[in-house]
Amino acid sequence: MTQISLIIPTYNESKNIPILLDKLDLCLSGINKEVIVVDDNSPDKTWEIARNLSSQYPWLKVIRRMTDRGLSSAVLTGFEQAEGKILAVMDSDLQHDEEALVLFLSAFDKGANIVVGSRKINGGSVENWSPIRKFVSWVATVMARIALPCKVTDPMSGFFALDRSIYLDNKNKINPRGFKILLEFLARAENAQVQEVGYTFKGRIHGESKLSSRVIYDYIFALYELSLGQYIPARFIKYGIIGLSGLLIATSVIFFCQKFTSFSDATSVAISIELSILTNFFLNNYWTFKENKLFGFWKTFRGIITFHAICLGGAFINQAIAIKMLGYGFDVYLSNALGYLVAAIWNYMINVNITWKVKS
Ligand code: GDD
Ligand code: MN
Repeated sequence: MTQISLIIPTYNESKNIPILLDKLDLCLSGINKEVIVVDDNSPDKTWEIARNLSSQYPWLKVIRRMTDRGLSSAVLTGFEQAEGKILAVMDSDLQHDEEALVLFLSAFDKGANIVVGSRKINGGSVENWSPIRKFVSWVATVMARIALPCKVTDPMSGFFALDRSIYLDNKNKINPRGFKILLEFLARAENAQVQEVGYTFKGRIHGESKLSSRVIYDYIFALYELSLGQYIPARFIKYGIIGLSGLLIATSVIFFCQKFTSFSDATSVAISIELSILTNFFLNNYWTFKENKLFGFWKTFRGIITFHAICLGGAFINQAIAIKMLGYGFDVYLSNALGYLVAAIWNYMINVNITWKVKS
């Protein structure tokens, strides 16, 4: 059986890939291996350059993906095709140290199920990082350690290996967005034996990094989903944030009416409620429920009507609870706040199922 399958995700790495394959040929010469390059149809034709080298390297396979994009999802595509006992991942841009792969293999021999190449333990380091990048990396690591019960020093590492069984047991639960594929496995394979191997993360010479602010946003979102998100869905948090923005909008509208119009207080409040319901609807449609967004005039119109009806129901619940609590002698603010919270949960659950019809 193939001992190790090494997955190499590439996007515009035409200058790096020939150098890397040459290095792998040397340093893994005695090992029964396959190397799977997964390229997302790079404009610089990385896939073609790699394919031309496969006659020279019998252990090389190249996958050219035409529609999917993204580092984590490329890694999963590679894992799916891999035949090895150990599934490893390495960047193609020569920043990871191929010599460490041999140490990975001996860690598996000693009983590890997951091996992580780390820049942050003894023997690990980074070459010429700016203070800003160091700081961002430090914050990301601290956040991961707070959110997850994992002990690794470098949970964002793109250089790691898994036992095939860890992959098979968890593959259906992995969210393939962004760069944090290792984090997904670490969070899910809680009982795995994890070992770290230090290596020096080198500076990039050819091509450029694809780590964007979007990748960082996905990362923070993933940390939430993997920790608290099991109890309070991230979507509910978004819904709550928009709910609060509604309060802000309503307050500004009342302020505006008082200042610039001669409307009565009751009219001002009515206008503010209507406007905040409308803005809440549209913001939720564009953000909270963006995967289930309502398009077109009639669908949107029907959504707005349903949303109003549900909000009205919520208002009754809010009031009923507040009155009940006032009856027990609670303070008016506390009574209203509790009513508001219960109504928000209620509104949310009904909207998920009726207005936006989210399928789980
Ligand atoms: N197929 C595919 N599709 N490959 C991609 C994509 C994509 O959309 N985006 C990036 N890659 C490949 C790159 O070609 C490279 O081989 C590797 O993934 C890493 O991408 P870089 O853009 O070089 O990442 P980096 O060096 O900035 O980030 C490194 O550190 C991060 C944490 O600090 C990587 O090791 C990351 O994996 C790591 O999370
Ligand atoms: Mn890189």
